[in-house]
Amino acid sequence: MSDPLLELDYKPKLPPKKDYGIGLVGTGGIVQYATMPSYRRHQLNVVAAYDLQRPTAEIVAEEFNIPHVCDSLEELLDDPAVEIVEIAVPPQHQLGIVRQAVAAGKHLLCQKPLALDLAEAAEIVKLGEEAGVKVAVNQQLRWGQGIRAAKDLIRKGWIGQVVDASIQVSVNTPWNMWDWLVNAPRLEVMYHSIHYIDAMRSLFGDPVWITSRHARSPMQGDIIGETKTITILDYDNDLQAFIADNHFNHSDEYFATFRFIGVDGHISGTLGAMYNYPHGREDTLYWSSRRYYPGHKFEAKLEGKWIPDAFIGPISSLMRAIQEDGVPETNARDNLGTLRIVEAAYRSAAEHRSIRFDEIDITPLSEL
Ligand SMILES: NC(=O)c1ccc[n+]([C@@H]2O[C@H](COP(=O)([O-])OP(=O)(O)OC[C@H]3O[C@@H](n4cnc5c(N)ncnc54)[C@H](O)[C@@H]3O)[C@@H](O)[C@H]2O)c1
Repeated sequence: MSDPLLELDYKPKLPPKKDYGIGLVGTGGIVQYATMPSYRRHQLNVVAAYDLQRPTAEIVAEEFNIPHVCDSLEELLDDPAVEIVEIAVPPQHQLGIVRQAVAAGKHLLCQKPLALDLAEAAEIVKLGEEAGVKVAVNQQLRWGQGIRAAKDLIRKGWIGQVVDASIQVSVNTPWNMWDWLVNAPRLEVMYHSIHYIDAMRSLFGDPVWITSRHARSPMQGDIIGETKTITILDYDNDLQAFIADNHFNHSDEYFATFRFIGVDGHISGTLGAMYNYPHGREDTLYWSSRRYYPGHKFEAKLEGKWIPDAFIGPISSLMRAIQEDGVPETNARDNLGTLRIVEAAYRSAAEHRSIRFDEIDITPLSEL
């Protein structure tokens, strides 16, 4: 079929200028298996690296040909070749780095979660806006192949008004990759479901009501935080979005699926990265439409994987915003919406009630 409707627009678009000098702060796991493989593939210009553990930065610099390993954050910020600072450290250290980086006039790609509480996140927004620099957040599932293709299908009207959306993940997560998460009191929603929350927002905007229930697994040992969660987002147009996660499924029946049901059809698929994280596999995508092709079921072969390929999305969007003096898609201010839902989810679980989105009021935090 040569119908243009069938040409899925889901691949991140690099901006015309892509040689901005990038300085990495933190060169741990996510930089090694996601960020740098993706940036190398697209020949981005990473010029400097700094990590509290200098040997880690040296190994990454050697493997990925980064010319300048720094002894301090100050040294990296003093390097005139660094135009964008990309932060990849645990979130409690992010604000301090942002303060110094915006004072040095650098644009920023921050890690998710942007901060562990809304006051800190709002301060990051304010710091960036007052300094006149662009601040984006690495919520890259929006550029995950299945989610982005679903967005394109929804935009083109394949399934009509969406009434039922779900992302359900039940996998065996390799917690040993993040020893610093063992003591995190807020775990699953803050660090993982935040991706699905942000993906739902990229498709449907902000909900009106948030309801969330959190539990532990008998298999989670000394991990303190919640590892099984269910979150429901209710929208004002009767859309209900459902996010369910279990990170201790040690059986062979593990899955990571998304489904979007509309009045005119359906979209479904799998999030390949969650099958054997972080190596994963390509996403799958199926859809049907009573409106365009009644009785037909489509299947697409999507190119790339969430990890590492979607990681080119946020940095591309940031570089484009710098060039056009625009706004990155996952700009820090937008990310406050994602964090409001995260906060609402914790309040909902703690107080055993549904929380209105606007109950998580951020206005007083920074007079935004
Ligand atoms: N976007 C995603 O999909 C994704 C996936 C995994 C992790 N993350 C996020 O990335 C961040 C890092 O995670 P990771 O898995 O790479 O952790 P990691 O523990 O493997 O690496 C963190 C690195 O940061 C360094 N570091 C810590 N504080 C520092 C500081 N103040 N200055 C410089 N370096 C510092 C550590 O020495 C370490 O090398 C976390 O915020 C995590 O939530 C995001």
